[in-house]
Amino acid sequence: MDNPHGELKVFAGTANQKLARDICKHLGIKLSRSEAERFSEGNTFVRVSENVRGRDVFVVQGISYPVNDNFVELLFWIDAFKRASASQVTAVIPFFSYAKGDKKDEPRVSIRARVCADCIEGAGADRVLTMDLHSPQIQGFFQRPVDHLHAMPVICDYFKKQAIPNLAVASTDVGFGKQAAKFAEMLDAPVVIGNKERPDHSEQAKVWSVIGEVKDRNVLIVDDIIFTGGSIISMVDAIKEKGACDVYAAVSHGVLSPGAAAKIAASPIKELVITDTVEYRFEDLPSNVRVLSVAPLFAEAIRSIHERTSISRLFRQ
Ligand code: R5P
Repeated sequence: MDNPHGELKVFAGTANQKLARDICKHLGIKLSRSEAERFSEGNTFVRVSENVRGRDVFVVQGISYPVNDNFVELLFWIDAFKRASASQVTAVIPFFSYAKGDKKDEPRVSIRARVCADCIEGAGADRVLTMDLHSPQIQGFFQRPVDHLHAMPVICDYFKKQAIPNLAVASTDVGFGKQAAKFAEMLDAPVVIGNKERPDHSEQAKVWSVIGEVKDRNVLIVDDIIFTGGSIISMVDAIKEKGACDVYAAVSHGVLSPGAAAKIAASPIKELVITDTVEYRFEDLPSNVRVLSVAPLFAEAIRSIHERTSISRLFRQ
């Protein structure tokens, strides 16, 4: 039976070219053709280079560095596909940076994730496919369907194979505690929670205390994002002081802002595992950082969305 949304086509914005190619390899299709330009004054231009009339279009474009350029480019892609008469446009956003702006927790601030959601829908996206939003309730900022994948199964499969003895799983803060408990359950390990504080917006983080037992244990610190590395390094210091043995870390989105790679290289972290949701690298990755691919997961999700089959097996947490 013909698909009601037409042939499946996957396009890549400039933020996630490699991930999009890898997704296509798993789907067994060719990446569709498009071009993007950034002019000298910062103006962005996009063009879809093949026919999408009546097609089921997926455009892979994360909102990662340069965040504002990549966000605007995503909006222009959605608009271009809708104007070219695609039957359905899914915005595939592997990393949604502005998800951190999810609440009005101080006076006179913007709920930036909400503004982004309005813009994405305003540009014409029919649905969104994303991974590990900073808080899952951001799905509610959209009126249209959001499929929210987790890197956790990929990360846990990797660490299960490592079979690290006497393992504890740690979160740097209470906010990620619930998610850390799910990692701990999958890895059959106890959970440990850090009490992290940030005094202001200077990106300084300090873990003041640790709830749970880490003495003589190997510890895996889990988080959704690593920017400066401050949260994870501060947690490493706190658990080492309490007698932890080997320390590992795993995050979904390895942004690694300038200076973070050197911090990780110089730290006692045996291995930091990140995924390929973020492509731009400020600096080369040090030898103690490993990248796992989430392309197979995105490919399966895209196939399920296209074929209208259930996607819930991929939300395995
Ligand atoms: C905070 O709520 C997040 O989950 C991460 O812990 C944080 O954004 C990491 O940032 P950084 O690496 O700069 O400490």
